[in-house]
Amino acid sequence: MKRTPISRICWLGLLLGLGSASLSAAQAPAAAPAVPLAGQSKDAFIDSLMQRMTLEEKIGQLRLVSVGPDHPKPVLLKEIAEGTTGAVFNTVVRPGIRDLQDAAMKSRLKIPLFFAYDVVHGHRTVFPIGLGLAASWDMASIERSARVAAIEASADGLNLTYSPTVDIARDPRWGRVSEGFGEDAWLTSKVAAAVVKGYQGQGLNQPQTIMAGVKHFALYGAGEGGRDYNTVDMSPQRMFQDYLPPYRAAIDAGAGAVMVSLNSINGVPATANKWLLQDLLRGQWGYKGLTLSDHGAVLELIKHGVAATERDATQAAINAGVEMNMNDDLYGKHMPELLKAGLISQDEIDRACRDVLAAKWDMGLFHDPYRYLQGKDPVDTDAEDRLHRADAREIARKGMVLLKNEGGVLPLKRDGVIALIGPLADSKRDVMGSWSAAGKAFQAVTVLEGMGAATRGHAALLYAKGANVTDDPEIVKYLNEYSEDVKVDSRSPKAMIDEAVEKAKQADVVVAVVGESQGMAHEASSKTNLHIAQSQIELLKALKATGKPLVLVLMNGRPMDLRWESANADAVLETWFSGTEGGNAIADVLFGDYNPSGKLTMTFPRSVGQVPIYYNHLNTGRPFDHEHPNKYTSRYFDSQNGPLYPFGFGLSYTDFSVSDVKMSGSKLKKGDQLTASVTVKNTGKVAGETTVQLYLRDVAASISRPVKELKGFSKILLQPGESKVVQFPIREEDLRFYDSQLRYASEPGEFKVYVGLDSDNVKEQSFTLL
Ligand code: NOJ
Repeated sequence: MKRTPISRICWLGLLLGLGSASLSAAQAPAAAPAVPLAGQSKDAFIDSLMQRMTLEEKIGQLRLVSVGPDHPKPVLLKEIAEGTTGAVFNTVVRPGIRDLQDAAMKSRLKIPLFFAYDVVHGHRTVFPIGLGLAASWDMASIERSARVAAIEASADGLNLTYSPTVDIARDPRWGRVSEGFGEDAWLTSKVAAAVVKGYQGQGLNQPQTIMAGVKHFALYGAGEGGRDYNTVDMSPQRMFQDYLPPYRAAIDAGAGAVMVSLNSINGVPATANKWLLQDLLRGQWGYKGLTLSDHGAVLELIKHGVAATERDATQAAINAGVEMNMNDDLYGKHMPELLKAGLISQDEIDRACRDVLAAKWDMGLFHDPYRYLQGKDPVDTDAEDRLHRADAREIARKGMVLLKNEGGVLPLKRDGVIALIGPLADSKRDVMGSWSAAGKAFQAVTVLEGMGAATRGHAALLYAKGANVTDDPEIVKYLNEYSEDVKVDSRSPKAMIDEAVEKAKQADVVVAVVGESQGMAHEASSKTNLHIAQSQIELLKALKATGKPLVLVLMNGRPMDLRWESANADAVLETWFSGTEGGNAIADVLFGDYNPSGKLTMTFPRSVGQVPIYYNHLNTGRPFDHEHPNKYTSRYFDSQNGPLYPFGFGLSYTDFSVSDVKMSGSKLKKGDQLTASVTVKNTGKVAGETTVQLYLRDVAASISRPVKELKGFSKILLQPGESKVVQFPIREEDLRFYDSQLRYASEPGEFKVYVGLDSDNVKEQSFTLL
């Protein structure tokens, strides 16, 4: 059915002379659609609309509900028509969205709904998970992935995404490290800005844009023990220096919404945290957008132990500044009575309602509630031509990280016999990763399909599953609780391994695709060890025993303990969950059609016992020294210190040399700039890209500063034999930090400059800040 925007009728007469408090339902004038007058400003429009709204309608705007068992569609349609719903999420096809918007257009004021969804790493086309995107160190590609997601999501009628996830994480036990962009605040800030720009384009008034809802504010990635939803207790210095900057970067890039996290911060749940949502977010950062609770978070304040009743929880959340309440009905139920009792103010409700209306204005919904529902609906939502496969393939391969390549086993030759083994080699669901809800598994390319296409007519490809992703029935039950995420092969482990070994024996090289199922790296998927499951280790041991060259293709959503794998495999390629085109992208890398250039944005520990482990740690008074190991230093006695693979690490099919660092001077004055430069040369035989990284260290300051901090990077492409000079500007602003009084300033003195191709292997220089 074709819709046209509501005609712009002048309702001015109705808008005049009404007071500022909410109207009661009885006082409400006859229906007068919320349509801007020609040339009316946003503020004037919202002022006039607010004056016409009843208290119930204002509170209704604060309700963000999911269609589903808690809110069945018929009930929801009725509530929307009564004007008691502000927005809906989890409806992702145009007809469903249109039904709901039609209901809103039957409400007294016809205030449009907005439609939200978890568009996290792509929409119909699925891109790599956050960790994989970040590993590309390619901001243009990351922005492009978000742009494509916005194009596809807006074509489905969506207006807002719960993304980007910019939670800094140093603990790979947490399943949601997969969604974020790693452990570094500076790099994650760059990624956050790129993603917001991708979603929101040149402005939300432009077509094919969706509002970014940055999450989870704040510090969700720092839960104790890596356990999801767990307590966060953190010093202000660490917060401001290492965890908060990416949220701020997303906001500064224009993110229109902020999702409040489920954790507590120093005893106060974020959902009830005035300091966080008012003093910091609105006060210090000047944020003017919308705040959303996470799913059910207001009610959870009771379990957090900061509210005794639902009424208290409602009061605490709105007092703190949580404007929209996701998926529990507490606001509607308790706000009127809290207002009457003077426990919340009309002002608080008005401010929240205003921000919802302002977001809808920004989304263009008052000008056209059917903005993204115009034209013909797609005949087939999953039509092939709605996908952006070329972007997906290109971006997926950019984030893959080559961790080991001994004896030049990679790239593979396109001849002879290749045995492709492993529980993840032919899994369409897993290659897409978690939070790929609108992506369709049947459209994903598995490694078997990708390699099949790459070898057709050249090499023979043999395949065996070899093992289940796990043989632990309790884990399978956990992962399959809501849907069948893990498909268990009923053959015995021995039968599966025997088949795989028999195929391996016929092959020239074995490629084993192992790691995690997508559900293992998701919300509510924290774990206490970082090994690949035993079923897969047994398989790998049997494959190793064949003596054939062994290439591991890892599919996983967190840093893992890869000690055995890296010692025993000839090559290891980290592919994360790489999305719709994952299998093709992996084949591109394995056969050298694309030379890998990804670098880790999260440290890979040797074992779970080292966690939390991150490159930008403090030095301590007794740092461990590899060259002169000493007992009474900061170390473990049962393990080597340091990571297995450091932050910033990733190999290529070519080699690069990095010259000594040249400084343009030895002293830096405020307002001036120094330049650190290196010459990077491709010393190998094929063209390749690498990311040159700049780290700085404040040697002596008023508080201890990290051993190094990333402050610049440059991804360059070099032909064989080619050299490039890479220059990094260094300014006083780059040297600022939060001191013991949370003043953000630099301090004069010596600074070390490190440049290299990862955070461990660097060339050093220094300068003095005057
Ligand atoms: C809970 C998750 O924490 C959040 O990231 C997500 O956006 C919401 N559920 C909605 O699905």
